[in-house]
Amino acid sequence: MSRRKIRIIIVLATVALGGLLTVQLLWLNKAFKSEEKEFNLAVQVAMSQTVQQLNPVITVKPIKQLTSSFFLAEVNAPVKAQELDTLLRQEFARRHLSIPYEYGILNAEDDTLVFGNYVPATLKLKQVANYQEVTIQTAPSGHYNFVVAFPTKTTHILSEMQLWLYSTLALLIVIVFFAYTLHSILQEKRLSELKADFINNMTHELQTPITNIAIASEILKNVDSNLSAAKAQRYHQIIFQENERLKSQVEQVLQMAELERKAMSLNKTSINVHQLLQDSLQRLSLRLQKRSGQVTCCLNAEKATIEADSLHLTNALYNLLDNAEKYSPQTPNIQISTRNYQQGILISIADKGQGIRKEVQQFIFDTFYRVPSGNIHNVRGFGLGLSYVKNIIQAHQGSVRVKSQENQGSCFEVYLPFRA
Ligand SMILES: Nc1ncnc2c1ncn2[C@@H]1O[C@H](COP(=O)(O)OP(=O)(O)OP(=O)(O)O)[C@@H](O)[C@H]1O
Ligand SMILES: [Mg+2]
Repeated sequence: MSRRKIRIIIVLATVALGGLLTVQLLWLNKAFKSEEKEFNLAVQVAMSQTVQQLNPVITVKPIKQLTSSFFLAEVNAPVKAQELDTLLRQEFARRHLSIPYEYGILNAEDDTLVFGNYVPATLKLKQVANYQEVTIQTAPSGHYNFVVAFPTKTTHILSEMQLWLYSTLALLIVIVFFAYTLHSILQEKRLSELKADFINNMTHELQTPITNIAIASEILKNVDSNLSAAKAQRYHQIIFQENERLKSQVEQVLQMAELERKAMSLNKTSINVHQLLQDSLQRLSLRLQKRSGQVTCCLNAEKATIEADSLHLTNALYNLLDNAEKYSPQTPNIQISTRNYQQGILISIADKGQGIRKEVQQFIFDTFYRVPSGNIHNVRGFGLGLSYVKNIIQAHQGSVRVKSQENQGSCFEVYLPFRA
């Protein structure tokens, strides 16, 4: 599928799902409001009926809704607590308001609370018997009002709307799955693109030594040509070197494949990190000499011995040094330093090379990833080095991170615990 097609599908599906979600939320809101209206009405009717029955001679004033869950009945007459309790239970039960509530009798003059009670549920009328256990005082004659509050009103209304909530939840699940699928598709696409690049890259990389070997051996094959011993020696050397290069390239790819299969086994011994740094630097020394590169070492760590696989770790450090040299277009200038932490050692390898743009730094440890450089391929590589480094360091329970600025240089910091 082309990128354009994928993009169109993503946009259309996102718009469709977004629309669906909006409609669902609008309906949910509407349903909540109408449920709430129904609830308020039932409460107000129940409370007016209560007022009426408390005192049949007075004219019932409309019930006031003070807040969303707080209702006031203005009786302005004597109110008997016991009677109010029974009536409220009966009226609420009649309207199927099975919700806990609190009620209180207030002095109409100064709104002081004269009596208050909490009723856990109303529908189960058998609980009515319980109220007698509560000391119910009779308010002294005078002018009283009463209030009813529903602390769990919102949850009660939501529980009445279960069907709505389930359908919204189902929609949300669909959206999550959609996002996940999309993410996987994009991931797969990226990987397949990287793999295609890698194969391209590898073919090119392998072609060079193969061609060089072919030419050198062709020359050597012509026995009749009067080749001087020195020249013959030179061609032999080319064949040998190119073959070594081929070997190391194939080795690198195989190693990565092995890591991918998680078949890596570490052969841990007690090793000195400074020694490993010297060893990997040694492997690079010829190339550095050729470019008159500079290396400064500040090996400050006093405790440099750790438990690690020396072969893999040397390879990993070599990869970092190799990059520092490769990606320094001018004369390479590499700083290597170490320092101790309580539980381990921090190795930092910095260069003053081309640096890495902020936005691609998150990808450089991915297998096959190489920072795109347009059509200029002056620096060769498979995009395997850093992903190998990351795998190896993580296998040692360590961590690796990069700090870099474009055209200023890069610094890779590797932290390794003394004992993994
Ligand atoms: N020190 C550095 N300075 C600038 N860019 C770097 C540096 N190290 C890595 N990079 C960028 O990160 C990319 C990934 O590096 P990595 O070592 O994984 O692959 P590679 O060097 O291209 O190939 P390989 O190491 O497999 O031969 C490189 O292509 C390069 O663009
Ligand atoms: Mg590399």
